[in-house]
Amino acid sequence: MAKRVPDTLYVCRTCPREQWRGGVAAGEGERFAQAVRAALAASPLASQVDLLVLHCLGGCPKPCNAALTGAGKVLLRFNRLGEGDVTALLELAALFRASSDGEIADRLPPGLKDRLALRLPAEIARG
Ligand code: FES
Repeated sequence: MAKRVPDTLYVCRTCPREQWRGGVAAGEGERFAQAVRAALAASPLASQVDLLVLHCLGGCPKPCNAALTGAGKVLLRFNRLGEGDVTALLELAALFRASSDGEIADRLPPGLKDRLALRLPAEIARG
């Protein structure tokens, strides 16, 4: 059986870049990224989902941002996240991992239903 390539979870550490607009405390992105890193490391997904902490995911006006993608899968970006959303984000990552194409927008965890901000088709997401 072929080994599956891990999916990738991106988290922005810079949010809120525009603190005046987002109403989010300075440093929230870094705290969110560290909380995601700790929760993922302790989860069964640790060997199936790579975490990349970046300086921007292009969703600056609505901090904090995270995105998921994988080989042959769409890219989904979520906004207005915080440390309280880490459990829902890992639920989402598990759903995404179980999907062959990442098309899970109709099955999002309740806390993330209104935070899907961007969906890129697989052919664009992986360039
Ligand atoms: S600074 Fe976080 S998405 Fe741009």
